[in-house]
Amino acid sequence: MDRTATLDHFWLPFTPNREFKREPRLFARAEGVHYFTPEGRKILDGCSGLFCTPLGHGRREIADAVHEQLLTLDYTPTFTRAHPKAFELATRVAGFTPTGLDRVFFANSGSEAVDSAMKIALAYHRARGEGQRTLFVSRERAYHGVNMGGVALSGLVRNRESFGTGVPGVMHMRHTHLPENRFARGLPEKGGELADDLARLGQLHGFANIAAVFIEPIAGSTGCLPPPRGYLERVRELCDTHGILLVFDEVITGWGRTGHAFAAQAFGVTPDLITMAKALTNGAQPMGAVAVKRGVHDAIVERGPLHAPELFHGYTYSAHPAACAAALATLGLYDAERSFEQARALAPYFQERVFSLCDLPAVADVRGYGLLAGIDLRAESGAPGLAGHEAQKRLFDAGLHLKATGDALLLAPAFGFSRAQVDELVDVLREMLGASR
Ligand SMILES: Cc1ncc(COP(=O)(O)O)c(C=O)c1O
Repeated sequence: MDRTATLDHFWLPFTPNREFKREPRLFARAEGVHYFTPEGRKILDGCSGLFCTPLGHGRREIADAVHEQLLTLDYTPTFTRAHPKAFELATRVAGFTPTGLDRVFFANSGSEAVDSAMKIALAYHRARGEGQRTLFVSRERAYHGVNMGGVALSGLVRNRESFGTGVPGVMHMRHTHLPENRFARGLPEKGGELADDLARLGQLHGFANIAAVFIEPIAGSTGCLPPPRGYLERVRELCDTHGILLVFDEVITGWGRTGHAFAAQAFGVTPDLITMAKALTNGAQPMGAVAVKRGVHDAIVERGPLHAPELFHGYTYSAHPAACAAALATLGLYDAERSFEQARALAPYFQERVFSLCDLPAVADVRGYGLLAGIDLRAESGAPGLAGHEAQKRLFDAGLHLKATGDALLLAPAFGFSRAQVDELVDVLREMLGASR
Protein backbone atom coordinates (compact mmCIF):
# COMPACT_ATOMS: atom_id res chain seq x y z
CA MET A 1 0.00 0.00 0.00
CA ASP A 2 1.19 3.55 -0.75
CA ARG A 3 2.86 4.70 2.48
CA THR A 4 0.95 7.97 2.54
CA ALA A 5 -2.37 6.08 2.59
CA THR A 6 -3.91 5.35 5.96
CA LEU A 7 -6.75 3.05 6.91
CA ASP A 8 -8.79 5.99 8.18
CA HIS A 9 -10.59 7.23 5.10
CA PHE A 10 -12.19 4.14 3.60
CA TRP A 11 -15.51 3.42 5.31
CA LEU A 12 -15.96 -0.29 4.70
CA PRO A 13 -19.43 -1.64 3.85
CA PHE A 14 -21.04 -4.33 6.02
CA THR A 15 -17.96 -4.31 8.30
CA PRO A 16 -17.29 -3.44 11.92
CA ASN A 17 -14.92 -0.63 10.92
CA ARG A 18 -13.23 0.05 14.27
CA GLU A 19 -12.33 -3.59 14.72
CA PHE A 20 -11.20 -3.98 11.11
CA LYS A 21 -8.89 -1.01 11.36
CA ARG A 22 -7.35 -2.41 14.53
CA GLU A 23 -6.73 -5.76 12.87
CA PRO A 24 -7.03 -5.34 9.09
CA ARG A 25 -7.30 -8.38 6.87
CA LEU A 26 -6.32 -7.44 3.34
CA PHE A 27 -6.17 -9.22 0.03
CA ALA A 28 -3.55 -7.82 -2.32
CA ARG A 29 -3.73 -10.25 -5.21
CA ALA A 30 -5.75 -13.18 -6.53
CA GLU A 31 -5.06 -16.02 -8.91
CA GLY A 32 -7.10 -19.13 -9.67
CA VAL A 33 -8.88 -20.16 -6.47
CA HIS A 34 -6.57 -18.27 -4.14
CA TYR A 35 -6.22 -14.84 -2.63
CA PHE A 36 -2.86 -13.55 -1.44
CA THR A 37 -2.31 -11.17 1.48
CA PRO A 38 0.11 -8.23 1.11
CA GLU A 39 2.70 -10.43 2.86
CA GLY A 40 2.15 -13.12 0.21
CA ARG A 41 0.23 -15.58 2.40
CA LYS A 42 -2.04 -17.82 0.31
CA ILE A 43 -5.75 -18.02 1.20
CA LEU A 44 -8.11 -20.55 -0.36
CA ASP A 45 -11.20 -18.77 -1.69
CA GLY A 46 -14.05 -20.98 -0.54
CA CYS A 47 -16.77 -18.48 -1.41
CA SER A 48 -15.80 -17.24 -4.89
CA GLY A 49 -15.25 -13.86 -3.24
CA LEU A 50 -18.90 -13.06 -2.60
CA PHE A 51 -20.31 -15.74 -4.96
CA CYS A 52 -18.87 -13.76 -7.87
CA THR A 53 -15.98 -15.69 -9.40
CA PRO A 54 -16.99 -19.26 -10.33
CA LEU A 55 -14.36 -19.28 -13.10
CA GLY A 56 -11.59 -18.47 -10.64
CA HIS A 57 -9.64 -15.24 -10.29
CA GLY A 58 -7.47 -13.40 -12.76
CA ARG A 59 -8.97 -14.78 -15.95
CA ARG A 60 -6.92 -13.28 -18.74
CA GLU A 61 -9.71 -13.69 -21.33
CA ILE A 62 -11.95 -11.39 -19.29
CA ALA A 63 -9.23 -8.89 -18.43
CA ASP A 64 -8.16 -8.64 -22.07
CA ALA A 65 -11.76 -8.13 -23.24
CA VAL A 66 -12.26 -5.28 -20.74
CA HIS A 67 -8.92 -3.69 -21.63
CA GLU A 68 -9.67 -3.79 -25.34
CA GLN A 69 -13.18 -2.46 -24.81
CA LEU A 70 -11.99 0.51 -22.76
CA LEU A 71 -9.61 1.48 -25.54
CA THR A 72 -12.28 1.01 -28.23
CA LEU A 73 -15.32 2.55 -26.57
CA ASP A 74 -14.92 3.39 -22.92
CA TYR A 75 -18.34 4.79 -22.26
CA THR A 76 -21.58 5.55 -23.98
CA PRO A 77 -24.92 6.32 -22.44
CA THR A 78 -27.63 3.81 -23.23
CA PHE A 79 -30.41 6.38 -22.92
CA THR A 80 -31.48 6.89 -26.57
CA ARG A 81 -28.00 5.72 -27.65
CA ALA A 82 -26.42 2.28 -27.44
CA HIS A 83 -23.45 0.18 -28.46
CA PRO A 84 -23.30 -3.18 -30.24
CA LYS A 85 -22.07 -5.27 -27.30
CA ALA A 86 -25.17 -4.41 -25.26
CA PHE A 87 -27.33 -6.14 -27.88
CA GLU A 88 -24.87 -8.96 -28.29
CA LEU A 89 -24.86 -9.58 -24.53
CA ALA A 90 -28.64 -9.42 -24.14
CA THR A 91 -28.93 -11.99 -26.94
CA ARG A 92 -26.33 -14.23 -25.27
CA VAL A 93 -28.03 -13.94 -21.86
CA ALA A 94 -31.35 -14.88 -23.48
CA GLY A 95 -29.66 -18.04 -24.73
CA PHE A 96 -29.10 -19.17 -21.13
CA THR A 97 -32.31 -18.06 -19.41
CA PRO A 98 -35.40 -20.30 -19.33
CA THR A 99 -37.44 -20.23 -22.53
CA GLY A 100 -39.51 -17.08 -22.81
CA LEU A 101 -37.43 -14.88 -20.50
CA ASP A 102 -35.63 -13.30 -23.40
CA ARG A 103 -35.81 -9.55 -22.79
CA VAL A 104 -32.96 -8.18 -20.70
CA PHE A 105 -32.71 -4.95 -18.69
CA PHE A 106 -29.23 -4.02 -17.43
CA ALA A 107 -28.24 -2.56 -14.06
CA ASN A 108 -24.97 -2.46 -12.10
CA SER A 109 -25.58 -4.71 -9.12
CA GLY A 110 -27.95 -7.21 -7.62
CA SER A 111 -29.62 -4.48 -5.56
CA GLU A 112 -30.30 -2.42 -8.65
CA ALA A 113 -31.58 -5.48 -10.49
CA VAL A 114 -34.07 -6.11 -7.68
CA ASP A 115 -35.34 -2.54 -7.61
CA SER A 116 -35.58 -2.59 -11.41
CA ALA A 117 -37.65 -5.78 -11.23
CA MET A 118 -40.02 -4.13 -8.72
CA LYS A 119 -40.55 -1.22 -11.11
CA ILE A 120 -41.03 -3.51 -14.10
CA ALA A 121 -43.71 -5.41 -12.16
CA LEU A 122 -45.54 -2.19 -11.28
CA ALA A 123 -45.26 -0.88 -14.84
CA TYR A 124 -46.56 -4.16 -16.27
CA HIS A 125 -49.73 -4.12 -14.22
CA ARG A 126 -50.31 -0.42 -14.79
CA ALA A 127 -49.91 -0.86 -18.56
CA ARG A 128 -52.57 -3.57 -18.50
CA GLY A 129 -55.03 -1.46 -16.57
CA GLU A 130 -54.36 -3.17 -13.23
CA GLY A 131 -52.61 -0.27 -11.54
CA GLN A 132 -54.13 -1.30 -8.21
CA ARG A 133 -51.57 -4.10 -8.04
CA THR A 134 -48.99 -2.34 -5.88
CA LEU A 135 -48.35 -4.87 -3.11
CA PHE A 136 -45.28 -7.10 -3.03
CA VAL A 137 -44.78 -10.39 -1.27
CA SER A 138 -41.41 -11.55 -0.05
CA ARG A 139 -40.24 -13.92 2.68
CA GLU A 140 -38.72 -13.86 6.11
CA ARG A 141 -34.95 -14.35 5.93
CA ALA A 142 -34.86 -13.10 2.33
CA TYR A 143 -32.03 -10.86 1.16
CA HIS A 144 -32.78 -8.75 -1.88
CA GLY A 145 -29.99 -6.21 -1.67
CA VAL A 146 -29.66 -2.87 -0.01
CA ASN A 147 -31.57 -0.33 -2.09
CA MET A 148 -34.78 0.87 -0.52
CA GLY A 149 -36.95 -1.49 -2.56
CA GLY A 150 -34.75 -4.42 -1.66
CA VAL A 151 -34.66 -3.39 1.99
CA ALA A 152 -38.47 -3.38 2.01
CA LEU A 153 -38.45 -6.89 0.54
CA SER A 154 -35.75 -7.99 2.94
CA GLY A 155 -36.62 -10.49 5.60
CA LEU A 156 -33.41 -9.99 7.56
CA VAL A 157 -34.03 -8.18 10.79
CA ARG A 158 -30.92 -6.00 10.81
CA ASN A 159 -31.63 -4.71 7.29
CA ARG A 160 -35.09 -3.66 8.35
CA GLU A 161 -34.50 -2.33 11.83
CA SER A 162 -31.64 -0.12 10.64
CA PHE A 163 -33.64 1.76 8.01
CA GLY A 164 -37.30 1.13 8.63
CA THR A 165 -39.42 -0.87 6.29
CA GLY A 166 -38.70 1.13 3.12
CA VAL A 167 -41.45 1.15 0.54
CA PRO A 168 -44.87 0.38 1.98
CA GLY A 169 -47.04 -2.54 0.94
CA VAL A 170 -44.57 -5.41 1.30
CA MET A 171 -45.76 -8.55 3.04
CA HIS A 172 -43.70 -11.51 4.13
CA MET A 173 -44.36 -15.21 3.93
CA ARG A 174 -42.73 -17.35 6.60
CA HIS A 175 -39.25 -18.68 5.93
CA THR A 176 -38.67 -22.39 5.36
CA HIS A 177 -35.94 -22.98 7.92
CA LEU A 178 -37.71 -25.70 9.90
CA PRO A 179 -36.11 -27.58 12.82
CA GLU A 180 -37.37 -30.88 11.29
CA ASN A 181 -35.15 -30.24 8.28
CA ARG A 182 -31.90 -29.88 10.20
CA PHE A 183 -29.05 -31.62 8.39
CA ALA A 184 -31.35 -32.41 5.46
CA ARG A 185 -29.40 -33.01 2.26
CA GLY A 186 -30.60 -31.41 -0.95
CA LEU A 187 -34.22 -30.31 -0.99
CA PRO A 188 -35.90 -30.69 2.43
CA GLU A 189 -38.96 -32.93 2.62
CA LYS A 190 -40.87 -30.75 5.06
CA GLY A 191 -42.30 -27.27 4.48
CA GLY A 192 -43.79 -27.34 0.98
CA GLU A 193 -47.11 -26.25 2.51
CA LEU A 194 -45.52 -22.97 3.66
CA ALA A 195 -46.10 -21.77 0.10
CA ASP A 196 -49.75 -21.44 1.12
CA ASP A 197 -48.76 -18.36 3.14
CA LEU A 198 -49.12 -16.63 -0.21
CA ALA A 199 -52.74 -17.74 -0.38
CA ARG A 200 -53.38 -16.40 3.14
CA LEU A 201 -51.84 -13.04 2.28
CA GLY A 202 -53.87 -12.91 -0.92
CA GLN A 203 -57.08 -13.71 0.94
CA LEU A 204 -56.37 -11.00 3.51
CA HIS A 205 -55.12 -8.21 1.25
CA GLY A 206 -56.77 -9.16 -2.03
CA PHE A 207 -55.00 -11.25 -4.65
CA ALA A 208 -55.89 -8.59 -7.20
CA ASN A 209 -53.77 -6.05 -5.30
CA ILE A 210 -50.54 -8.07 -5.42
CA ALA A 211 -48.03 -7.12 -8.12
CA ALA A 212 -45.29 -9.68 -7.58
CA VAL A 213 -43.77 -12.30 -5.33
CA PHE A 214 -39.98 -12.21 -4.86
CA ILE A 215 -38.29 -15.51 -4.04
CA GLU A 216 -34.66 -16.55 -3.86
CA PRO A 217 -35.03 -20.14 -5.14
CA ILE A 218 -32.29 -21.01 -2.65
CA ALA A 219 -32.23 -18.33 0.02
CA GLY A 220 -28.53 -17.49 -0.10
CA SER A 221 -27.28 -14.75 2.16
CA THR A 222 -29.27 -16.00 5.13
CA GLY A 223 -27.25 -19.20 5.13
CA CYS A 224 -28.33 -21.35 2.16
CA LEU A 225 -31.91 -22.57 2.48
CA PRO A 226 -32.84 -24.86 -0.43
CA PRO A 227 -36.58 -24.87 -1.16
CA PRO A 228 -38.69 -27.65 0.39
CA ARG A 229 -40.00 -30.14 -2.15
CA GLY A 230 -43.07 -28.82 -3.95
CA TYR A 231 -42.69 -25.31 -2.53
CA LEU A 232 -41.68 -23.42 -5.67
CA GLU A 233 -44.24 -25.32 -7.75
CA ARG A 234 -47.02 -24.28 -5.36
CA VAL A 235 -45.94 -20.63 -5.39
CA ARG A 236 -45.91 -20.72 -9.21
CA GLU A 237 -49.40 -22.24 -9.27
CA LEU A 238 -50.81 -19.57 -6.95
CA CYS A 239 -49.19 -16.79 -8.99
CA ASP A 240 -50.67 -18.23 -12.20
CA THR A 241 -54.12 -18.54 -10.71
CA HIS A 242 -54.15 -14.98 -9.42
CA GLY A 243 -52.28 -13.02 -12.11
CA ILE A 244 -49.29 -12.29 -9.84
CA LEU A 245 -45.79 -12.03 -11.31
CA LEU A 246 -43.20 -14.41 -9.91
CA VAL A 247 -39.66 -13.06 -9.61
CA PHE A 248 -36.75 -15.36 -8.86
CA ASP A 249 -33.84 -13.45 -7.36
CA GLU A 250 -30.93 -15.46 -8.74
CA VAL A 251 -28.16 -13.06 -7.81
CA ILE A 252 -26.40 -15.95 -6.05
CA THR A 253 -27.96 -19.00 -7.69
CA GLY A 254 -27.66 -17.71 -11.26
CA TRP A 255 -24.86 -18.73 -13.62
CA GLY A 256 -24.21 -22.29 -12.70
CA ARG A 257 -24.13 -22.43 -8.89
CA THR A 258 -26.82 -25.17 -8.94
CA GLY A 259 -25.22 -27.04 -11.84
CA HIS A 260 -27.60 -25.36 -14.28
CA ALA A 261 -27.50 -21.86 -15.71
CA PHE A 262 -30.30 -20.83 -13.35
CA ALA A 263 -31.99 -22.44 -10.36
CA ALA A 264 -35.25 -22.05 -12.29
CA GLN A 265 -33.93 -24.76 -14.63
CA ALA A 266 -32.48 -26.87 -11.82
CA PHE A 267 -35.89 -26.95 -10.08
CA GLY A 268 -38.06 -26.95 -13.22
CA VAL A 269 -40.07 -23.89 -12.21
CA THR A 270 -40.13 -20.91 -14.54
CA PRO A 271 -40.65 -17.45 -13.07
CA ASP A 272 -41.70 -14.33 -14.99
CA LEU A 273 -38.58 -12.36 -14.15
CA ILE A 274 -35.08 -13.35 -13.03
CA THR A 275 -32.67 -10.96 -11.33
CA MET A 276 -28.97 -11.71 -11.67
CA ALA A 277 -25.56 -10.08 -11.04
CA LYS A 278 -22.25 -11.31 -9.53
CA ALA A 279 -21.17 -14.27 -11.74
CA LEU A 280 -22.60 -12.57 -14.84
CA THR A 281 -19.15 -10.98 -15.25
CA ASN A 282 -17.27 -13.45 -13.05
CA GLY A 283 -17.03 -10.49 -10.67
CA ALA A 284 -14.66 -8.60 -12.98
CA GLN A 285 -16.99 -5.66 -13.57
CA PRO A 286 -20.07 -4.51 -11.64
CA MET A 287 -23.17 -5.60 -13.53
CA GLY A 288 -26.70 -6.71 -12.77
CA ALA A 289 -29.59 -7.61 -15.04
CA VAL A 290 -33.25 -8.56 -15.11
CA ALA A 291 -34.40 -11.19 -17.59
CA VAL A 292 -38.05 -10.60 -18.37
CA LYS A 293 -40.70 -12.74 -20.03
CA ARG A 294 -41.44 -11.42 -23.45
CA GLY A 295 -45.13 -10.90 -22.66
CA VAL A 296 -44.27 -8.76 -19.65
CA HIS A 297 -41.85 -6.68 -21.70
CA ASP A 298 -44.29 -6.32 -24.58
CA ALA A 299 -47.15 -5.24 -22.32
CA ILE A 300 -45.02 -2.29 -21.25
CA VAL A 301 -43.07 -1.50 -24.40
CA GLU A 302 -45.81 -2.01 -27.00
CA ARG A 303 -48.21 0.36 -25.28
CA GLY A 304 -46.05 3.41 -24.64
CA PRO A 305 -46.06 6.49 -26.85
CA LEU A 306 -43.39 6.44 -29.57
CA HIS A 307 -41.68 9.65 -28.45
CA ALA A 308 -41.18 8.86 -24.73
CA PRO A 309 -39.56 6.07 -22.67
CA GLU A 310 -42.04 3.30 -21.95
CA LEU A 311 -40.30 2.56 -18.64
CA PHE A 312 -39.10 5.61 -16.76
CA HIS A 313 -36.08 3.89 -15.32
CA GLY A 314 -32.40 3.30 -16.06
CA TYR A 315 -28.86 3.89 -14.83
CA THR A 316 -26.03 6.01 -16.20
CA TYR A 317 -24.04 2.80 -16.36
CA SER A 318 -26.77 0.42 -17.62
CA ALA A 319 -24.99 -1.89 -20.10
CA HIS A 320 -21.64 -0.18 -19.54
CA PRO A 321 -19.36 -1.23 -22.41
CA ALA A 322 -16.64 -2.62 -20.13
CA ALA A 323 -19.18 -4.63 -18.14
CA CYS A 324 -20.71 -5.96 -21.38
CA ALA A 325 -17.25 -6.99 -22.58
CA ALA A 326 -16.54 -8.74 -19.27
CA ALA A 327 -19.90 -10.53 -19.36
CA LEU A 328 -19.47 -11.65 -22.98
CA ALA A 329 -16.04 -13.06 -22.19
CA THR A 330 -17.43 -14.76 -19.07
CA LEU A 331 -20.33 -16.36 -20.90
CA GLY A 332 -17.90 -17.48 -23.61
CA LEU A 333 -15.83 -19.23 -20.93
CA TYR A 334 -18.91 -20.83 -19.36
CA ASP A 335 -19.61 -22.39 -22.77
CA ALA A 336 -16.05 -23.28 -23.69
CA GLU A 337 -15.23 -24.83 -20.33
CA ARG A 338 -18.65 -26.46 -19.86
CA SER A 339 -18.65 -24.78 -16.49
CA PHE A 340 -22.15 -25.68 -15.39
CA GLU A 341 -21.52 -29.36 -16.13
CA GLN A 342 -18.28 -29.04 -14.20
CA ALA A 343 -20.24 -27.63 -11.23
CA ARG A 344 -22.81 -30.41 -11.52
CA ALA A 345 -20.09 -33.05 -11.58
CA LEU A 346 -18.29 -31.69 -8.49
CA ALA A 347 -21.46 -31.05 -6.47
CA PRO A 348 -22.02 -34.58 -5.01
CA TYR A 349 -18.43 -34.77 -3.73
CA PHE A 350 -18.59 -31.24 -2.35
CA GLN A 351 -21.88 -31.93 -0.57
CA GLU A 352 -20.62 -35.24 0.79
CA ARG A 353 -17.54 -33.60 2.26
CA VAL A 354 -19.40 -30.61 3.70
CA PHE A 355 -21.96 -32.88 5.34
CA SER A 356 -19.10 -34.84 6.94
CA LEU A 357 -18.86 -31.88 9.34
CA CYS A 358 -22.27 -32.69 10.84
CA ASP A 359 -20.67 -34.57 13.74
CA LEU A 360 -18.89 -31.50 15.11
CA PRO A 361 -20.41 -30.22 18.36
CA ALA A 362 -19.86 -26.64 17.14
CA VAL A 363 -22.11 -27.28 14.13
CA ALA A 364 -25.83 -26.71 14.62
CA ASP A 365 -27.00 -27.41 11.06
CA VAL A 366 -25.70 -28.02 7.55
CA ARG A 367 -27.61 -27.37 4.33
CA GLY A 368 -26.60 -27.40 0.72
CA TYR A 369 -27.39 -27.74 -2.95
CA GLY A 370 -25.09 -27.80 -5.97
CA LEU A 371 -21.91 -25.91 -5.13
CA LEU A 372 -23.52 -23.89 -2.38
CA ALA A 373 -23.67 -24.81 1.29
CA GLY A 374 -24.38 -23.23 4.65
CA ILE A 375 -23.12 -24.29 8.06
CA ASP A 376 -24.85 -22.92 11.16
CA LEU A 377 -22.53 -22.55 14.12
CA ARG A 378 -23.82 -23.09 17.62
CA ALA A 379 -24.19 -19.65 19.19
CA GLU A 380 -22.91 -20.46 22.67
CA SER A 381 -22.46 -16.84 23.79
CA GLY A 382 -26.09 -15.88 23.25
CA ALA A 383 -24.93 -12.89 21.17
CA PRO A 384 -26.28 -13.53 17.67
CA GLY A 385 -23.60 -13.29 15.02
CA LEU A 386 -20.63 -13.48 17.39
CA ALA A 387 -19.72 -17.10 16.60
CA GLY A 388 -19.92 -16.41 12.86
CA HIS A 389 -17.89 -13.24 13.11
CA GLU A 390 -15.15 -14.84 15.18
CA ALA A 391 -15.06 -17.86 12.86
CA GLN A 392 -14.74 -15.66 9.82
CA LYS A 393 -11.71 -13.91 11.32
CA ARG A 394 -10.04 -17.13 12.45
CA LEU A 395 -10.61 -18.67 9.02
CA PHE A 396 -8.70 -15.84 7.38
CA ASP A 397 -5.82 -16.51 9.74
CA ALA A 398 -6.10 -20.23 8.98
CA GLY A 399 -5.89 -19.59 5.21
CA LEU A 400 -9.52 -19.90 4.12
CA HIS A 401 -11.96 -17.25 2.89
CA LEU A 402 -15.69 -17.83 3.52
CA LYS A 403 -18.60 -15.47 4.01
CA ALA A 404 -20.32 -15.40 7.38
CA THR A 405 -23.90 -14.18 7.79
CA GLY A 406 -24.94 -14.10 11.41
CA ASP A 407 -23.80 -17.45 12.73
CA ALA A 408 -23.90 -19.18 9.35
CA LEU A 409 -20.83 -19.81 7.23
CA LEU A 410 -21.40 -19.86 3.48
CA LEU A 411 -19.42 -22.04 1.10
CA ALA A 412 -19.46 -21.41 -2.65
CA PRO A 413 -16.29 -22.65 -4.31
CA ALA A 414 -15.26 -21.92 -7.88
CA PHE A 415 -16.46 -24.59 -10.29
CA GLY A 416 -12.88 -25.61 -11.06
CA PHE A 417 -12.05 -26.66 -7.49
CA SER A 418 -10.24 -29.98 -7.47
CA ARG A 419 -11.37 -32.66 -5.03
CA ALA A 420 -8.14 -32.02 -3.13
CA GLN A 421 -9.12 -28.36 -2.76
CA VAL A 422 -12.57 -29.37 -1.50
CA ASP A 423 -10.79 -31.62 1.02
CA GLU A 424 -8.54 -28.76 2.07
CA LEU A 425 -11.53 -26.48 2.60
CA VAL A 426 -13.32 -29.05 4.73
CA ASP A 427 -10.16 -29.97 6.66
CA VAL A 428 -9.46 -26.34 7.58
CA LEU A 429 -13.05 -26.03 8.78
CA ARG A 430 -12.88 -29.23 10.80
CA GLU A 431 -9.68 -28.20 12.45
CA MET A 432 -10.88 -24.71 13.18
CA LEU A 433 -14.28 -25.76 14.47
CA GLY A 434 -12.36 -27.69 17.02
CA ALA A 435 -12.75 -31.43 16.72
CA SER A 436 -10.64 -34.27 15.45
CA ARG A 437 -11.72 -36.71 12.80
C1 LIG B 1 -30.31 -12.79 -3.63
C2 LIG B 1 -29.59 -11.49 -3.65
N1 LIG B 1 -30.20 -10.41 -4.16
C3 LIG B 1 -29.58 -9.22 -4.24
C4 LIG B 1 -28.30 -9.05 -3.77
C5 LIG B 1 -27.64 -7.71 -3.83
O1 LIG B 1 -26.61 -7.72 -4.75
P1 LIG B 1 -25.52 -6.55 -4.71
O2 LIG B 1 -24.72 -6.72 -3.47
O3 LIG B 1 -24.74 -6.79 -5.99
O4 LIG B 1 -26.25 -5.25 -4.77
C6 LIG B 1 -27.63 -10.15 -3.22
C7 LIG B 1 -26.25 -10.02 -2.72
O5 LIG B 1 -25.66 -10.93 -2.19
C8 LIG B 1 -28.29 -11.39 -3.15
O6 LIG B 1 -27.71 -12.47 -2.61
